[in-house]
Amino acid sequence: MRMCLKSTFTLRLTWWSLLSCSFAFQTVPFEALADDVKTDSRTMGDPLFALLFTDILIPTEIGTVVPVPAGVEVAVDPQRPWYFGKREGTSADERLFAGDVRVSPLLKWREDRTEALHNVANEVRAALADPQRRPTPLMRLSMQWDVLSVWWRLEQTEGTPPEVLEELAKLVVDLAQPAEVLNSLPSGYDLAQAQFAGSPMGTYKSPWFSPDDVVGEQAGWKQLARRSSKLFVAPHSMRASRVYMKALEPVETQADTEAFLKSWATSGLNRDWQPDRQVQTAMVLSLIGVTPELEAVATPVVDEIRFRVVHAPHDGIPPEETTSRDGSSIWLYYLSRAETQNQGQPAYRFVPGLEESLFPEYGTAKQTTFAAQCTLCHRIENSGRQSPGGIRSVSSYAGGEITTDKLHRFRLAEAEMKVVTTRLKDRLAAGAKPLPLAEFDYKKTTKGL
Ligand code: HEC
Repeated sequence: MRMCLKSTFTLRLTWWSLLSCSFAFQTVPFEALADDVKTDSRTMGDPLFALLFTDILIPTEIGTVVPVPAGVEVAVDPQRPWYFGKREGTSADERLFAGDVRVSPLLKWREDRTEALHNVANEVRAALADPQRRPTPLMRLSMQWDVLSVWWRLEQTEGTPPEVLEELAKLVVDLAQPAEVLNSLPSGYDLAQAQFAGSPMGTYKSPWFSPDDVVGEQAGWKQLARRSSKLFVAPHSMRASRVYMKALEPVETQADTEAFLKSWATSGLNRDWQPDRQVQTAMVLSLIGVTPELEAVATPVVDEIRFRVVHAPHDGIPPEETTSRDGSSIWLYYLSRAETQNQGQPAYRFVPGLEESLFPEYGTAKQTTFAAQCTLCHRIENSGRQSPGGIRSVSSYAGGEITTDKLHRFRLAEAEMKVVTTRLKDRLAAGAKPLPLAEFDYKKTTKGL
């Protein structure tokens, strides 16, 4: 497998040799990968994505839910709950991280990719100039977002060669589209809903997608304004993130979200409880694009949908069949680049809780399952005494409350992106000259609700 990457980047054999090596997999040991790929045909066909969203590395930490490679001994601390259990990565844990994910595993630039970057960048420019090969506006945004998110991380990472930062910044500009074009792109939400319609709310292992018009705020769904943690400010997620909530009446099927929020606000001291009713939440993330004038635009294109249900005790769902194993489940959907390209419109994939990934956006290069990662913050018991049922948007910190301003998160995200677009301008002006590391203070970025 190591040969696979090496030959692609240094000898510049076909890109397909890399693509066929990796794309259906997120975390597979090298030895296993070599055999698996022979029988797998899912590839992306996008060299730019391959270059920016693939890496081989030893994760800094590995969740104890991840199977241990042969020969590695792991001491499990019986006092630590399953989602907290982790160990240090060792050389036996080296993996190719790749796949159609939202956060790139490329944490540090590899010098042996610089030449390939220049070649691919020129290839992209040639395709943009050719009406036969020009990507659709939707795929062009997708490509720009991939470049923008990796460029911005590398601007904040010690040791990235300035010529690489310059090339990536130029690509962001080459892929830019006017605000009217970005704003007229499809949301995709309805398509996602149609794609996963009809599956009943069972365990977290099979997809469930609310049949309600969530973003239209029908059937009791309300959008919440809130103060964001670092995770969801735009310069961290590169997306606008809207949160919706629906609280059923106790034992009824009618929703009364306002009554729930009221009863929660006056509920007294113990904030670490399982609500007496079912509460459903959704987070809808949408891509930010950049115009030729280097203005950030929060586009309608939804690239990730997170559903979460906090079950009421009377729902009768066995806790061990929920994601958190204590009564709350999540269902996650990502915009799939490969399927969106194939179908010419937004298409999504269900990300099962047992899928493994690298989660650098939460702090360290940790490899674990989605279920374990999400349960760190979203569970019913021991959730930090700050939110009922682990619903963080209504924690005392986030201060979530119902809003009627449907697009406020879009405008907020655009304002928050100023730190990124300013750096983009500085980088284009500086060219391949070094600049001090970019940084941003998220507490200043997210001013109140
Ligand atoms: C490090 C803690 C942390 C982790 C890990 C985490 N979240 Fe959250 N999540 C939050 C916070 C804080 C909010 C509140 C919104 C904000 O900060 O803007 C939130 C909000 C949400 C919401 C909106 C409703 C609510 O409960 O507030 C959903 C749905 C959600 N997260 C799903 C997920 C999923 C799915 C994962 C795993 C991929 C995940 N979260 C991982 C901290 C976390």
